[in-house]
Amino acid sequence: MKEPANKKLTSYGDAGFSQFIRQAFNRHLGFDEEDFQKPVIGICNTKSEINRCHTHIGPLVEAIKKGVLMAGGIPLEFPTISLGEINTSPTTMLFRNLAAMDTEEMIRAQPMDGVVLIGGCDKVTPSQLMGAASADIPSIIITGGPMNNGEYEGRTLGACSDCRFFWQEYRGDNITEQEKDAINEALAPTAGHCMVMGSASTMAVCAEAMGMMLPGGAAIPATHNARLKHAIETGKKIVELVNKGITPSQIITEKSLDNAIRALMAVGGSTNAVIHLIAIAGRLGIKLPLDRFDELSKTTPFIANLRPAGKYQMEDFFNAGGTPAVLKELESLLHLDELTVTGTTLKENIRDVTISDVYRDIVYPFEQPLHKEGGIAVLKGNLAPNGAVIKPKAASKDLLNHRGRAVVFSSTKELEKMIDDPTLDIQADDILILQNAGPVGAPGMPEAGMLPIPQYLLKKGVRDMIRISDARMSGTAFGTVILHVAPEAAVGGPIGLIQTGDIIVVDVDNRKLELLVSDEELANRKASWTPPTIAARGYVQMYQKHVMQADKGCDFDFLLAPQKEKVR
Ligand code: FES
Repeated sequence: MKEPANKKLTSYGDAGFSQFIRQAFNRHLGFDEEDFQKPVIGICNTKSEINRCHTHIGPLVEAIKKGVLMAGGIPLEFPTISLGEINTSPTTMLFRNLAAMDTEEMIRAQPMDGVVLIGGCDKVTPSQLMGAASADIPSIIITGGPMNNGEYEGRTLGACSDCRFFWQEYRGDNITEQEKDAINEALAPTAGHCMVMGSASTMAVCAEAMGMMLPGGAAIPATHNARLKHAIETGKKIVELVNKGITPSQIITEKSLDNAIRALMAVGGSTNAVIHLIAIAGRLGIKLPLDRFDELSKTTPFIANLRPAGKYQMEDFFNAGGTPAVLKELESLLHLDELTVTGTTLKENIRDVTISDVYRDIVYPFEQPLHKEGGIAVLKGNLAPNGAVIKPKAASKDLLNHRGRAVVFSSTKELEKMIDDPTLDIQADDILILQNAGPVGAPGMPEAGMLPIPQYLLKKGVRDMIRISDARMSGTAFGTVILHVAPEAAVGGPIGLIQTGDIIVVDVDNRKLELLVSDEELANRKASWTPPTIAARGYVQMYQKHVMQADKGCDFDFLLAPQKEKVR
């Protein structure tokens, strides 16, 4: 095998022997030495039967290989960690950085000139982008694509917004056991990742908007012929990127991240994307403060009518033109000269995009948006000095500016035990607080932020309350939920000092989150606070020692690139 263009192969201290042994071992696929003079393309494969969102990607990997071969490269598939939301405990977020390290180091350690990253489920796309950004060889990302719509008795179902919606209805005695079981069978009807604008779809849209995925890739359903075509195109294109020497650090810039944030706001995407985009930026030494999300949200119209904040799902979004249609509408706000994995600019990519009037209830015109502002707001105040986030469009309007009594749960375990206890006397206008569910405290910042409504309130018809935590929530979740409070309780943040009965003011219009307790009283409470013990050993200990707070992207502190300089 020839030495890859941008890295040194291991030497055994004898260059001739190194070449000899590699030649012998590389014959196993039937390629000869001449073939290895062509661009070698790694295909970073996250196929897994436990991660159901990635079960089906085998044929896509084969399609990518076809594309690579057609373009004159040699495709070599290799495995990396696969993270599936539903079957990974305690939370996939605990392992996002591990997956990113795996991706980075395997790209760096193995001989390849370029890489195609294939994933899809929530944490996989960001971990692959983080790893590729750090390794910085020519890279393209592709996902397995979203599921097709589900259906139950004429109603469209979406995983997993409807998993949450119908579970809540079941707890509120609004649907029967039989209905619950029938809905369960229809919730995830095909291969693919969740088909609402949850975290998986959001990160795919962001990857496309920042230029790391070929145009249109985010929305193509997992089962559609167009996804195989997209995979073949990706295989062809990576060879071209290798030949042109285009790497992620030329594509992921301050400006292209702005484009990704604009797209995030316009589609009402997941709050998780805020954490992931900050982490991706950090891998390239780009400072991306939380306030930038609020600035861009205030000036980006919300134009994609997609669940959980809107009405439609990814299959419908695909028919309406997907991310290119959104980017076309946002054109006047975007940095159009940014380079993308097509080898040309965003401007070129969307030049000929048109949107049929038939789909104007899915992608709204820029001039007549669904909402004037984007889908995420950043709140600050003495309860969250370094920030917190909320999706106002997925919340109840009447709760966006509210003053209420705190009811505190000190952990997810206590929440589980106590939430339905009627002696707590929780009222609908109270504010539920979850502490110690952040990056260090949980650990791993689980998607526990959409706290369940107490059953006795559900039975009275209550469907939303203000909930505040240092946790995250699934991109498919909804409600008046304030998340990512930083600093978190486990590092001494004010959220950990709240007591039941304290009064909290939420003022989303003015971006405020205040705890009406005096500084003196808070200082007294802090004096008796003790930090939690961390894990005794292993990866979790390393995670707790090195994970940064939500406003810094939850990456490990030692993985950040020096600002504006390469790691190696
Ligand atoms: Fe994988 Fe929802 S469980 S995207």
